[in-house]
This record gives sequence, structure tokens and C-alpha cells, in this order.
Amino acid sequence: MKLTETHYKLIAKLADGQFYSGQQLADELNVSRTSIWNYLKTLEGTGLSLHAVKGKGTRLAVPIELLEADKINVSLSSRSREVLSQLELLTSTDSTNHYLTQKNAQQRLASGSVCVAENQTAGRGRLGRTWVSPYGQNIYISFLWNFKAGLSGLSGLSLACGVAVCNALKSNGLTEHGLKWPNDILWERKKIGGILVEVQGESQGDSTAVIGIGVNYKMSTEASGDIDQPWVDLNRALNGKVPSRNKVVGDLINEILPVLAVYEDTGLPPYVESWNKYDCHKNKKVNIIKAGKSSEFVAKGISASGELKLLNAQGGIEKIMSGEISLRMDD
Ligand code: BTN
Repeated sequence: MKLTETHYKLIAKLADGQFYSGQQLADELNVSRTSIWNYLKTLEGTGLSLHAVKGKGTRLAVPIELLEADKINVSLSSRSREVLSQLELLTSTDSTNHYLTQKNAQQRLASGSVCVAENQTAGRGRLGRTWVSPYGQNIYISFLWNFKAGLSGLSGLSLACGVAVCNALKSNGLTEHGLKWPNDILWERKKIGGILVEVQGESQGDSTAVIGIGVNYKMSTEASGDIDQPWVDLNRALNGKVPSRNKVVGDLINEILPVLAVYEDTGLPPYVESWNKYDCHKNKKVNIIKAGKSSEFVAKGISASGELKLLNAQGGIEKIMSGEISLRMDD
């Protein structure tokens, strides 16, 4: 069911994690107690877990910090402000990547258009997977950039953005995180974030990239229900000492926009060394699954053009390109 203004007001009231009685909420929102009960039922469908206690009322099982433009803006660097053309905050959308792509199709957007959403109803992951996107608990952000160099020049863009996301998490106190080729962000071998780059245009002419980033921030176990791989969020990785959600959004913008602004000129090379430092699999045995067949290699980081370098049993280096394979750590 589509959320209404009343749902959003109710979420804003409950965001602090305090108990509110049905009557308090009904008075606040100027609706009946029966309506409040119905609204609360709908909220549970968005991944918000509610905790009701007789005599006390209802609260959010996990308090949330809602997105606020002012709070994001204060954490933006002067470089971000120069390069950002618009920042849109959405309560709910199907996918922030799809939102920017559609909007761009209607009226060409300027490079540096960014949107962040509280909730995605059809969040997209790589390889056609779903990205679980409960309301207010994680970060769902997309960036649009127009390039002249054509699609062929953008193959390493997602890897450069992986470095930028890792840097943003590092500046928020995270350590021991890294990258799994091509651009999964892991912490202690569990997924904490991911990047989906979708490009449109001509192979040698004008092209547009939409770079979507999902970072697990503070997700309830109930809301994570459909995730089919080990995951973690910033809150758990930082032992509950999680920085402000709006600040993390600001820091992602501060790291990503400068990369996009120079990528056409620099390409991937300036990011290769950092990528290899963040590589979770460097010098580790990995199984490469290609067309259903699994082979063992030792991972050797990425090449200047973003291929994964693999040492084979004969001592030779093989290189593979993004999208061809699925990579598993060999335990
Ligand atoms: C992956 O599979 O690892 C990539 C996940 C990318 C998720 C983000 S959330 C914001 C943006 N909108 C989407 O629908 N997907 C990306």
C-alpha cells in the first residue's frame, strides 16, 4: 500500500523510539484510534518493526533518524557544494536509480543530480537481485553524471566509486572494511554495502551514468528478512556507536562527487592502489564460478583497467572483467 502524508507524520512521531498511546497518536494526527491502528499495520509492511506494550503504547523497535536536508547540507564540503547540482530527499520511491533515470528521460538532468530515499519499494542490486530497503533504516542514494567519453570509458567507474564509499565509511569510524571485486563493500566478510552503476548512451559518444549506493546503517533483523547472504550494518560494526545517518549521507556525497567530477579525465588509475589496499581477497584463495564451473585461483588485486588478476595453478596470471563471474572466498 502507498504511504500517505499521515503515515509519514506517524513515522516522524515514532522515530524517537519512545512509547506513544493510541490516543496520543490519534490526537496528534487528528484521526480516530481505529485509523491509527490501521496506519500502524501499514507501517509494518514497510519494514518498520513496532513494539506494543499493554498500558504503555507502541514504539519503533529500532529508533530511526530521518533524512533532513539541513543536516546533510552542513556536512557537505566546499567541493561538494561546487559540484552538486541538486539534492532531492524522497520519502519513498521504487528505486533511487530508477527515479533519476526516469527523471532524466523526461528532462535532461545536470551532472551532480543526487537523490536519497527513506525507502525503496523495488530496490535493485547487481545481477538482477533485489536490494532490501526498509524505511529509514539504511542509506539509499543515487548520483547522476553525464560523460562525453562514451560507455567504453566507464568500465572502471564502479571500482573508483567503491574506493570512495570505503573512504566515506572510514571517515565515520569504520575500520576493517574492504572491497570484494567488483564492488561489494564488506566488513568481516559480511556485506555492509553495494554499488549499482547503470549506464546509458553511446559507446563512443555522450553517455549518462547513474551510480546507486546502498549502505546498511541500522537495520532490524525482521526487516532484513529477504537478504540471502551474510550482512552487517554500520551500527553493529561500530558496536552501537553509529554516527548520524545524515552525516554518513553527506560524507558519501563528499567522496563520490569529486570522483565523478574528474573521472572523465583521470579514469581508474588514480584509484587502483587504494582499491588494492581495500581488497578483502588479495593473496587469498578464491573460487571463481564461471558458467556454472568453479576453479581455484589466488586473487592478486585489480589491473589498471579494473580487471581482476588471478594467479592460476600453473603460475600464470589470468584477468577477468566485471560481470563475467561470481567470486567466492575459498575457506
Ligand atoms: C549490489 O547488489 O551490491 C548493489 C546494491 C545497490 C543498491 C543501491 S540502493 C540505492 C540504489 N537504488 C537501487 O535500486 N539500487 C542502488
